[in-house]
Amino acid sequence: MNNCIVGLQWGDEGKGKIVDILAEKADIVVRYSGGANAGHTVVIGDTKFALHLLPSGAVRPETVCVIANGVVVDPDCLTGEIDSLAQKGISLKGRLFISQNAHLVLDYHKAEDRLRENSLGENKIGTTIRGIGPCYADKVGRTFAARAADLADLDTLRQKLVKIVDYKNKIFAALYKAEPLDSGQIFEKCKFYAEKLVPFITDTTRLLHNAIEQRKSILFEGAQGTLLDLDHGTFPFVTSSNSSSLGMSAGAGVPAKNVDKFIGVAKAYTTRVGSGPFPTELDNEIGSYIRDRGNEYGTTTGRPRRCGWFDAVAVRYSVTIGGIDAIALMHLDTLSGIKQLKICKAYRINSEDTDFFASDIETLAKAEPVYQTVEGWDEDLSGMSSFDELPENAKRYVELVEQFTGAPATIIGVGPKRSQTIFRH
Ligand code: IMP
Repeated sequence: MNNCIVGLQWGDEGKGKIVDILAEKADIVVRYSGGANAGHTVVIGDTKFALHLLPSGAVRPETVCVIANGVVVDPDCLTGEIDSLAQKGISLKGRLFISQNAHLVLDYHKAEDRLRENSLGENKIGTTIRGIGPCYADKVGRTFAARAADLADLDTLRQKLVKIVDYKNKIFAALYKAEPLDSGQIFEKCKFYAEKLVPFITDTTRLLHNAIEQRKSILFEGAQGTLLDLDHGTFPFVTSSNSSSLGMSAGAGVPAKNVDKFIGVAKAYTTRVGSGPFPTELDNEIGSYIRDRGNEYGTTTGRPRRCGWFDAVAVRYSVTIGGIDAIALMHLDTLSGIKQLKICKAYRINSEDTDFFASDIETLAKAEPVYQTVEGWDEDLSGMSSFDELPENAKRYVELVEQFTGAPATIIGVGPKRSQTIFRH
């Protein structure tokens, strides 16, 4: 059984926990898009792991981990994560494989991300400043790009870096009056990364196809969420990769027909970090209540997340374009104690109601949510282990989510621990 897990909202849906649960039965866990902008928190027992680049399966000593071609790899972050797991007694030797075709995020990408965002002021995208956009831009531009395979050929990499850094310095000086970067220093760091990472670099496409032939079980782990997809999300307030399930094939080199089930992860409410329209945003006490109870602060940047009601219009769109078979509805417990809950079932745009999501931001900015109001519940759900145990109003809430999004909610999260998960059907 091969599964693909993707976020259905603007990221931070709690994919890490679902991936971790499903990784138990998987032979291989694959990251296929994004980079160190992602932040997955996995809680095992009392130990918390915050991973940015390593697939969530990395914390399981038996699981093979693949960082496929579609990921942009920050070698500084990756070597740090490998070391920090080693310090907790978890070795990745012989079970981590990094695509030779994955592009490297280097210092000049992070500098470019920061300089550009700072220069945009009010109009900034609100990126994670992890160099993601600049690295993907270099990948598409082709001329000034470095890939994981380059770490195995240091002489060529040295020459490449001289050319790239010279080019970047000219741009940074002209546009931002920035101090020049030193290609020699970046190369010295790359020598260190090469020593640590080259043993893990390989042809991951071939590895995955061999695994499929051997009927191994593969879990594809999406990063960010469908609404942040470069092509299908709320452009330009998106990330720079295809973060929906549609990015899985290109990002891993595996056709969608090899995936048995696409599981979409959504929170029982909505959050967003960074800029961009957010129709169901609650800039009020209820928003703060959700933020505090749900601990809605970025794993990567620590930024407080914007919080709002569940947007079924947006999630239905993500379900449709992503070919989603089932929803994992997370953080249902966070909503306990709110008297009345609302689910957005349509948008009113220019006095007309529509249940189709508008990914273009001008239209989305005009969308007024049309809500279905549901009575809330006071019970603490965090100890409940079956759907039947849930308060009637919580059940009704889940059923409305299913009705409005068109997908069954087969997994329900009632707390951060793996054990706090309800499976249905
Ligand atoms: P970038 O991916 O760092 O370029 O950021 C672009 C947009 O995607 C910003 O709004 C970020 O806040 C958002 N973003 C990137 N990664 C994540 C994530 O893992 N969770 C939530 N939002 C993210």
